[in-house]
Amino acid sequence: MEEPKESQPSVSNGVKKPANNDYDLTQPLQTGTGLRSGLTSYGDAHFSLFLRKVFIKALGYSEDSLSRPIIGIINTYSALNPCHANVPQLIEAVKRGVQLSGGLAVEFPTISLHESFSSPTSMFLRNLMSMDTEEMIKAQPLDAVVMIGGCDKTVPAQLMGGISANKPVLPLVTGPMMPGSYRGKRLGACTDCRNNWAAFRAGTLDVEDIGALNEELAPTAGTCGVMGTASTMACVTAALGFMPLRGASAPAVSSARLRIAEETGTNAVSVAAAKRTPQEMLCKESFLNAITVLQAIGGSTNAVVHLMAIVNRHPKLSGEITLQTFDDIGRETPLLVDLKPSGDNYMTDFHNAGGMLGLLHTLKPLLHLEAITITGQTLGQVLDANPFRTFQFSSEIIRPLTNPLYPSSSLVVLSGNLSPNGCVMKASASKDRHLLSHSGPAVVFKNSTDLALRIDDPDLPVTKDSILVLQGIGPIGNPGMPEAGMIPIPRKLSSQGVTDMLRISDGRMSGTAGGTIVLHVSPESVVPESVFGVVKDGDWISCDVEKRSLRLDVSEEEIARRIGERKRVVEGDEKGAWKMRRARRGYRGLYERCVNQAEEGADFDFLTAAGPGDE
Ligand code: FES
Repeated sequence: MEEPKESQPSVSNGVKKPANNDYDLTQPLQTGTGLRSGLTSYGDAHFSLFLRKVFIKALGYSEDSLSRPIIGIINTYSALNPCHANVPQLIEAVKRGVQLSGGLAVEFPTISLHESFSSPTSMFLRNLMSMDTEEMIKAQPLDAVVMIGGCDKTVPAQLMGGISANKPVLPLVTGPMMPGSYRGKRLGACTDCRNNWAAFRAGTLDVEDIGALNEELAPTAGTCGVMGTASTMACVTAALGFMPLRGASAPAVSSARLRIAEETGTNAVSVAAAKRTPQEMLCKESFLNAITVLQAIGGSTNAVVHLMAIVNRHPKLSGEITLQTFDDIGRETPLLVDLKPSGDNYMTDFHNAGGMLGLLHTLKPLLHLEAITITGQTLGQVLDANPFRTFQFSSEIIRPLTNPLYPSSSLVVLSGNLSPNGCVMKASASKDRHLLSHSGPAVVFKNSTDLALRIDDPDLPVTKDSILVLQGIGPIGNPGMPEAGMIPIPRKLSSQGVTDMLRISDGRMSGTAGGTIVLHVSPESVVPESVFGVVKDGDWISCDVEKRSLRLDVSEEEIARRIGERKRVVEGDEKGAWKMRRARRGYRGLYERCVNQAEEGADFDFLTAAGPGDE
């Protein structure tokens, strides 16, 4: 859309003179938009603008360019982030959309996070990226910002930062990679990375197979090609109303992806003109729609943590959504999308079957169609303007409400004395459904190191009915809550054909992983009062998904006795995680002191809307 320009610069002796009386010291400077927004403070606004122009003209911009709405493009390209390898082409396409619509596109960097290249975990750095995003959006003279993200933690970080900055923001994801192939079977990162590695551990694949598979699991640029965290967050972001619906699933290497980037640039200019900020656009119903989609796609458990962090950045919606909301919506929402890890297919199949457009049309009776989207249309208007016809192929990938893949509650929230503040399970990804109602003796690992040392010990006292418990991987106990919750099946059992066991931890699990796995137990084990922290080998644990219950079957007196004893140990342990968090320097110290628990989003307490204000 062509933006009405402010008064045009005049020309004298071949030099364009600035518009808007920028240097008229007798008049107050017009501020608030474009280059005249967020001036660096020198106590003289005219001089601040003069100086800003001096420097930006070093890049060759004319007065005409500088009079346009300025659309920032966040560049998260990194040579250590293959999920973002297409960012340079996307930037070119966004710029084309911006500039054809009368805006001035300017790119700038923020940090970039890839799952495999972020030690200890990318989640540890998500809050740092959100701070980087928020502060750079706030600091720079930008009328709207296209935020290019993709890999798991980048999109949540950008939404958190964008909502807190509260300038018009338009997420653009890099899109999923294409599937690969090995011996005639399609493959995709990263569900098939895990399945094949488990088969290798069990001895059913040899070293040659695993080496060859390594070449094929990520055959193109883009995010993981299944319904992992990146794909989940892309679908959830579209459901929140932030992007064109095809934008959630178009492959990273497709021309469709570039056209979506151009459209996002075009939209950015009109969103800037409308000053449509995320805090204004989002309402409670936007989040209810996003959670409905999360349940219908069998999305990543990580999205629960991210959505809690995102909603808790919004001053009017903070506290309006809780873990219970996810469970309540799950009870009404069937799993419709047949993608790994809950089903069998890949993101390219979802895209070809209609992607989010097809899914939202199918889910229409469960959605809040009055929620506003980024273009100013309601979700209902977007769907009415884009009809969708179901074809045979698409109804296999996106099932109709009458023939779901799983009747309801693909993600469930459990609670009980073992996790009073709640925990999460992706029930639809359970491989052995009888484990959804199971009691058994605990085999406890104190932390990831303990797990690595003992899980394959032939003398480990474990049977297929045991419940594997991993402590010490919560937000504070192991900063970043590593995705170690998919505890491997002990080799002595996997070699006998056991493929699933009930597993419980205070950490996370990759969105591409599956199994009967309870995650995000809160309070985490490192907290002195945590019941999860006092579970011992042989304690009986009962899990009943139908009743949403997770219990430690130990008397209250014994639990209280253990907690009292442990508090003395934890609070006296100068080298323990609980004490050390007060003493550590740098970002890690900040993280350990300020991170909140999983059910609140594992955000920093001082960044949430309920935290301290700006003044
Ligand atoms: Fe980037 Fe999976 S590693 S999306």
